[in-house]
Amino acid sequence: MCVVGGAGHVGLPFSLSFAHSGKRVLIYDTDRKALAKIAEGVLPFPEEDGERYLKDALAKDRLAFTSDPADVQPSGALVVTIGTPVDEFLNPEHKVIRECMDGLLPYLTDDHLLVLRSTVYPGTTTWLERYLQRAGKRPKIAYCPERVVQGSGIRELAELPQIISGTTPAALAEVRKLFRRVAPQTFEMTPLEAEFAKLFNNCYRYLHFAIANEFFMIATSAGADFRRIHSGMTHGYPRAKDMPSAGFTAGPCLVKDTMQLAAFARNQFNLGHAAMRINEGLVLFLIDRLAQRYRLKSMTVGLLGMAFKPNSDDTRASLSYKLKNELAVQAKSVLCTDPYVKTDPELKPLADVLKRSDILIMCVPHAAYRELDSKGKPILDIWNFLGTPNILL
Ligand SMILES: NC(=O)c1ccc[n+]([C@@H]2O[C@H](COP(=O)([O-])OP(=O)(O)OC[C@H]3O[C@@H](n4cnc5c(N)ncnc54)[C@H](O)[C@@H]3O)[C@@H](O)[C@H]2O)c1
Repeated sequence: MCVVGGAGHVGLPFSLSFAHSGKRVLIYDTDRKALAKIAEGVLPFPEEDGERYLKDALAKDRLAFTSDPADVQPSGALVVTIGTPVDEFLNPEHKVIRECMDGLLPYLTDDHLLVLRSTVYPGTTTWLERYLQRAGKRPKIAYCPERVVQGSGIRELAELPQIISGTTPAALAEVRKLFRRVAPQTFEMTPLEAEFAKLFNNCYRYLHFAIANEFFMIATSAGADFRRIHSGMTHGYPRAKDMPSAGFTAGPCLVKDTMQLAAFARNQFNLGHAAMRINEGLVLFLIDRLAQRYRLKSMTVGLLGMAFKPNSDDTRASLSYKLKNELAVQAKSVLCTDPYVKTDPELKPLADVLKRSDILIMCVPHAAYRELDSKGKPILDIWNFLGTPNILL
């Protein structure tokens, strides 16, 4: 099998899971540096069980690496896990799939099973079938969305039901066989249903966080502590137990997929647009509230956590950076720290940030901050991670 985009956050755990099941996997990726690292046994990002699976797969010679589509074998499964971003108009970048396919086209045969695993705009799978047929290629085509949580892909692939779909019964039969190697259960849909299911799953989650964030802003504006209200609402009360705390809702998937669905719905995705306004607007709300209580212009603000979510090194679409950019204008200076992020040369050690800041913001509740001593500095913690007083009231 070949995993296209196999060095990425989705592709690598997926490749390792299949290698663990006994398959030989060719990891095809345009990022040569990432491939070289993986080939040396180094994971490019944290992944539960990833190191163990990678070492084992390399020792058993079950992985191969390439950036040349000519190395793709003439048959078997080709699983596409490349990134599918939105463009400057907040519409999906259709061309990334097309360009990826154009690169593979000379090597694509009717004996391939082409599996789209990336999150795609509804209708992409049948579009792809037509596109390839026009080029004289008739591989079997399937869409099987990735729904695992980043960092736990290996574990969740082995635990969660996998949605599978094919454009023909033969494609469906083949992809069913493939996924049954690694997954406990498969759930069959049409490609369009599967495309919607993936987007709806992510949008549902994005909306869910927006509810807590809007409640937070309403309560705070009224001078009430949402963190205490949240505790009362959820304590021993089953119908609210899954309500998240307020917090930064960001990352490479949730907001991007909400934009994709909004674009598909001709910008009539009312709840989705509201959720984007709320989740993105929370950052500016916090700055405005802080500015009402503190003279930010003469203060150094310390940001704790720059990844987009706890215990991750991934800064893609992290709201911590939106906060940093805005504070660069509103505060005297901004210092940032993160125990996991290694890609940002501007980050400072935690001790420095604690010492030099006048006020702190807990952007991401990394486990490493659990015992944090803020040295008596005021700390804004909307997550209620530390149980410190609410400095916005
Ligand atoms: N990250 C997640 O938790 C997650 C979860 C579910 C679904 N998804 C979806 O999965 C897809 C991939 O996301 P990701 O987070 O793994 O992205 P990523 O950027 O981490 O990985 C994508 C990989 O594809 C490679 N690539 C890009 N274009 C290529 C091409 N033409 N040929 C070969 N390789 C190419 C990149 O070099 C990169 O290594 C997206 O559609 C995303 O929405 C992501």
